Amino acid sequence: QVLGIIILNLLCQTAQSSVICYSCYGKSRTEGATCSYDKLTVCDTSCGFTVSANGSWSTGCSTSAQPSTTPQICTFAATTRTTTCLCGADFCNDFDTTVDDLLDVWNKDGVTIPMMFPSSMTLECFECGQVNITGVGIVVLPCDAAHTCHGDYCVTKRGENPHSYCGTAWDGTPNVSCTKMPNQPEICICTESFCNPVLDPVQEPVTTTTLAAAPPTTTPAATTAAPSGDTTSHPKCKNGAFTPNTQAVTMGEKLKNIISNAFNAVNIGWFKKGIDDHICNYSSPT
Ligand SMILES: *[C@@H]1O[C@H](CO)[C@@H](O)[C@H](O)[C@H]1NC(C)=O
Ligand SMILES: *[C@@H]1O[C@H](CO)[C@@H](O)[C@H](O)[C@H]1NC(C)=O
Ligand SMILES: *[C@@H]1O[C@H](CO)[C@@H](O)[C@H](O)[C@H]1NC(C)=O
Ligand SMILES: *[C@@H]1O[C@H](CO)[C@@H](O)[C@H](O)[C@H]1NC(C)=O
Repeated sequence: QVLGIIILNLLCQTAQSSVICYSCYGKSRTEGATCSYDKLTVCDTSCGFTVSANGSWSTGCSTSAQPSTTPQICTFAATTRTTTCLCGADFCNDFDTTVDDLLDVWNKDGVTIPMMFPSSMTLECFECGQVNITGVGIVVLPCDAAHTCHGDYCVTKRGENPHSYCGTAWDGTPNVSCTKMPNQPEICICTESFCNPVLDPVQEPVTTTTLAAAPPTTTPAATTAAPSGDTTSHPKCKNGAFTPNTQAVTMGEKLKNIISNAFNAVNIGWFKKGIDDHICNYSSPT
């Protein structure tokens, strides 16, 4: 009977389709690869995220089977002081979610790990659009409150599969502008919250012979407005930006308490601030 269960488990595992995971890392303050839609990989079994005792971390495929239905599970091993997170759903090892989960488990175990970040990553941006993933094809992710990221600047990439994501100092510090090189997607960089809505797709011209200059560098299109329609000022508690959601408020309050307690040694401050906004944005107008 036990054997039957094992065989059934094995069958379920082999029947499980592959999963899309982030593949990125942080070695030190100055060396790392920001988790973004341009750093995805397709894994056979599950996604992982590991943080060493010294705070360096990496994320990618894991061989440990995880059901796609359960949320990410993070475990702190006291002997090695290594923290390992596992999950089995597409995009489940995303950076923001994992940092929240890590702080949760470190707080529970009463430890502080000096996790490596490139900066305080205070800017919040869209992470959405059409992503062409090798071995999977085009995946379309909606631009909404559930598809955001934190970084030092926001990026939107035009071309045939326009999509948006976050950049950090680890990827360099490009100027705020749109740049179009021949036969490559136009890339726009901006530094205001949610300034990177996805642009309309453009077909790359088939001919490569033209030597005409690239279109002039322009500032990012402010006309394609973010959901609130306001990217220049940031009023607090702007109700109506997203649908009020009492569960999100409760979760936010809970998370805020955990993080307030855990933040002594972690050099990043946007969670608390972001959560205040989050609570605000999801609160019903009263
Ligand atoms: C941090 O720990 C990892 C894993 O043990 C190791 O590979 C890395 O070299 C260490 N980094 C530093 C800066 O000590
Ligand atoms: C997606 O990328 C692959 C490989 O680069 C390419 O062959 C394919 O045409 C792309 N699909 C779309 C719809 O752009
Ligand atoms: C940013 O703009 C300045 C002045 O136009 C230029 O010198 C510099 O090379 C640019 N930096 C990048 C990363 O493109
Ligand atoms: C909440 O709304 C403000 C103002 O519209 C915005 O700046 C902020 O980024 C939003 N925060 C979240 C977590 O949605």
